[in-house]
Amino acid sequence: METQENLILIVDDKIHNLEILFDVMQMNGHQVLVADSGESALDKLKIISPALILLDVMMPSMDGFEVCRQLKSDDKTKDIPVIFMTALTNTADKIKAFKLGAVDYITKPFQQEEVLARVNVQLKLRNLNQQLQKSQFQLMQAEKISALGQLVAGIAHEVKNPVSFIAGNLEHTENYTQELVDLLKLYQKHLQNTPEEITHTIDTIDLDFLLEDLPKMIASMNVGIERISDIMQSLRNFSRKDATTKKYADIHQGIDTTLMILSHRLKANEIHPRIEVIKKYGDLPEIECFPGQLNQVFMNLLANAIDVFEDKAKQNEYFIPQISISTELVNDNNAKIIIYDNGYGMSEEVQNSLFNTFFTTKPEGKGTGLGLSISYKIITETHGGTLECFSSEGKGTEFVIQIPIK
Ligand SMILES: Nc1ncnc2c1ncn2[C@@H]1O[C@H](COP(=O)(O)OP(=O)(O)OP(=O)(O)O)[C@@H](O)[C@H]1O
Ligand SMILES: [Mg+2]
Repeated sequence: METQENLILIVDDKIHNLEILFDVMQMNGHQVLVADSGESALDKLKIISPALILLDVMMPSMDGFEVCRQLKSDDKTKDIPVIFMTALTNTADKIKAFKLGAVDYITKPFQQEEVLARVNVQLKLRNLNQQLQKSQFQLMQAEKISALGQLVAGIAHEVKNPVSFIAGNLEHTENYTQELVDLLKLYQKHLQNTPEEITHTIDTIDLDFLLEDLPKMIASMNVGIERISDIMQSLRNFSRKDATTKKYADIHQGIDTTLMILSHRLKANEIHPRIEVIKKYGDLPEIECFPGQLNQVFMNLLANAIDVFEDKAKQNEYFIPQISISTELVNDNNAKIIIYDNGYGMSEEVQNSLFNTFFTTKPEGKGTGLGLSISYKIITETHGGTLECFSSEGKGTEFVIQIPIK
């Protein structure tokens, strides 16, 4: 439930108090909702989320302390600041109020200016606090991304040396073996009467097969080492710090690298079978962009799809998770990238909030709700493109990215 920034809930059983406070708050530009009992306040809080609550302590049936206790024990309402209104001058009660989580109290009969001043201070504090939390989250996300980049770059760097000496030695090995084979053939040619021991060994090791197989093995080792070098190169590309200017890059390479980095999550595990990735790459020229940032977008979209699969597979053991990625050139000047998953899809409500910062449906600790809002910024603001989501609940979700090729 989104907090209504300007809404104040006033809870008091005395209609007269409600009227005065209602007028003061409204005159000063606040929206006001009133409740004349604790029960009615709790009911209203099921459907609204005010920025602040003014709560009377002494009320029949449920008193303000009990209302506050219930508010603080519910995740949905625990962060709403509560100011107690009390005729009590009793210090023990004031302490009790603070212990229950109140942020302030006002003693009755109240001065209108004082009430207003205290309300405004609390609203301001709340606002500052939220801004602080937001920046903290953003910092965390930025740190996470740069830490991942550094880790990848570090590994790519460390692996580079051993890989290049294996590649270098393999070349020599190929030459040396060829020379040894040639020498062996010379022996065969010039040694007329082959001693029994040698013929026996030739049979045991199946020399003909060995000579045929050895070059093939070396060739496949060459292919393997080339593949490792490519992977290392793309990892270095993935993690390279984007300069302040755009550069031309191959989008398909970016997607492939991202898939490679996610490959451990695509494999079958105890939760889901192997995730099928269907690629339908069209003819795309190199695109003028910030490649590292685009990779971050692919990463966020693909990671979200995999998250959904993990949930869905728990419910349906016959489910076959699929992601399809297609690309095409549109009107000669736009690259279109469509990432589809056959997961849950999402409700209209989720679709409406999808790109909002901190919007998440995942449990605490799993999602921060930043992935899509950052992706949206990267595509629209940084690249002048569009990012759209099409989804039907229960069926699947399609994210469509369009960016100008330069
Ligand atoms: N492919 C998808 N299918 C269904 N729901 C999705 C999909 N992608 C995103 N969502 C919904 O959108 C919400 C916001 O996504 P977003 O990536 O911004 O945040 P998050 O994944 O929850 O957290 P974070 O990415 O910061 O770790 C998700 O919590 C989820 O409810
Ligand atoms: Mg996400």
